[in-house]
Amino acid sequence: MSDPQHVLAARVQAALGAAFGEPDADPVIRPSQFADFQANVALPLAKKLGRKPRDIAAELVAHLDVSDVCAKVEISGPGFVNLTLSPEWIAGQAQAMHGDERLAVEKAEAPQTTVVEYSSPNIAKEMHVGHLRTTIVGDALARVLEFLGHHVIRDNHIGDWGTPYGMLIELLLDVGEGSAEAGLLETDPNAFYQMARQRFDSDEEFARRSRERVVKLQAHDPDTIRHWERLVELSKVYLHTVYGRLGVTLTDEDIRGESFYDDMLGVTADELRDKGLAEISEGALCVFPPGFTGREGDPLPMIIRKSDGGYNYSTSDLATVRYRVDKLDVDRMIYVVGAQQALHFQMVFAVARMAGWLPEKVSAEHAQIGNVLGPDGKIFRTRSGRSVKLTELLDEAVERAGAAFDEVPHEGDFDDQTRRRIVEAVGIGAVKYADLSVARGSEYIFDFDRMISFRGNTGPYLQYATARIRSIFRKGGLAPEEAAGPITLGHEAERALALHLLGFGTALRQTGEAAEPHRLCAYLFDLASAYTTFYENCHVLRAPDEPTKASRLALCALTLRTLSKGLELLGVATPERM
Ligand code: ARG
Repeated sequence: MSDPQHVLAARVQAALGAAFGEPDADPVIRPSQFADFQANVALPLAKKLGRKPRDIAAELVAHLDVSDVCAKVEISGPGFVNLTLSPEWIAGQAQAMHGDERLAVEKAEAPQTTVVEYSSPNIAKEMHVGHLRTTIVGDALARVLEFLGHHVIRDNHIGDWGTPYGMLIELLLDVGEGSAEAGLLETDPNAFYQMARQRFDSDEEFARRSRERVVKLQAHDPDTIRHWERLVELSKVYLHTVYGRLGVTLTDEDIRGESFYDDMLGVTADELRDKGLAEISEGALCVFPPGFTGREGDPLPMIIRKSDGGYNYSTSDLATVRYRVDKLDVDRMIYVVGAQQALHFQMVFAVARMAGWLPEKVSAEHAQIGNVLGPDGKIFRTRSGRSVKLTELLDEAVERAGAAFDEVPHEGDFDDQTRRRIVEAVGIGAVKYADLSVARGSEYIFDFDRMISFRGNTGPYLQYATARIRSIFRKGGLAPEEAAGPITLGHEAERALALHLLGFGTALRQTGEAAEPHRLCAYLFDLASAYTTFYENCHVLRAPDEPTKASRLALCALTLRTLSKGLELLGVATPERM
């Protein structure tokens, strides 16, 4: 265990046990302005025991054994215990982290089977910037949780079922597979969808055929299912292209779309009725979960089966919960989906709990994703009002990344191909990092200039930081893996950098627990800043003596590995040279 906050917590708890018989009290360890950390437990404990906080703090300190960890322990204010770590301890822990393949990040003691549901576009339509954000955030969460030792089940809950497929199948039959129009499914599915829509609205015969087709689809007519499958296959080609370019880890095996749950909808509805949870209201089978009311205070229905016998989005999500709990045996479900669907998920989870399908011990979380806005503060669209095409957006990001890249100093000249590869990584990395670094539930304004900057909390800045550390090693004529240390901490900036490095595990755990990648982004950005201060104050290759040089090179190598690992877990590529 190298994480200072953990080590101190364990020591303080031991003292709480010895002094007060309270080994389970939260030691309340926080970063401190006056020391490295402070333990604030004396205040709540004093209240509980009816004593003075300062006396509690004094007794706690008398029982506290941190002589190997801390250089100084002090009581301040009403009863805060200030803890200053010793440079030797920090150096020893940093050395251990440096020698460890996992950067001293321990695997979870109790691994959880976790479904991370993300991306989930409606496949017959173009993925838009909103789906892009859920895709990128979800992928980072899946990577982080997996690294922490959890059993992650990626789940791409695509919209691949329902009424639009009637007209899509009819159009595919009309234009014929192999036609240029059918080819659109693989490159620009939204254009295909719009073509079908237009024909549906203007051609009555086509509309009639489409409606009949929906009925056949829902009746699982074999011929219709075959066409539908073909349509889904072609759309997957498009998804693969996008995921491939983005470096998203989703594969075909992760796809479990709405169609997958279709044959479970009937039983789900019937059981709700039989349990007496659902009732007929205005012809539809509805559940009214307690606590959900409309604007007038009237109970809010969740429609399970429409009066025409058709099922709803909610029914499908209830069946999904059951499948995940019963068949996948999950401990945790994270739905990375737009914030607009918050009420939907609250109601789904509430009804699933009422029905006994979602036991208390299984956590169901809607990881809300905020809107991406245009410069006008409205949902990001082009001037013509249509939503921005993803591929065009990524192309533009890469083009702009090229221009920005030419403005910063480089390590030598790159041939065309290398430059193109770097610039692609910078452009894509910039877009991804922008989605990740903002608290996921918050809206933000999509701004190329800000996200592609080589300054500030951006992807390019962190990518560039890793390439610059690598260049030190190239200049010094050794590989980062060869920098063995030992790490010793003389300068204040060395100490600060090493201490920050030790917080990597905590940053990852917080990211996983809260399902919030921006926490990892903030950690990495602070790490890069601590590194810059170190680099500005401490000569590395021209260090005053050999031991200092060896130590500083090891600090550089450890910083490089930590930044690279962190970016990898965010899904941001790091070019070796820039
Ligand atoms: N396909 C939906 C959409 O594009 C998102 C699906 C979200 N997941 C779910 N389990 N309902 O809006």
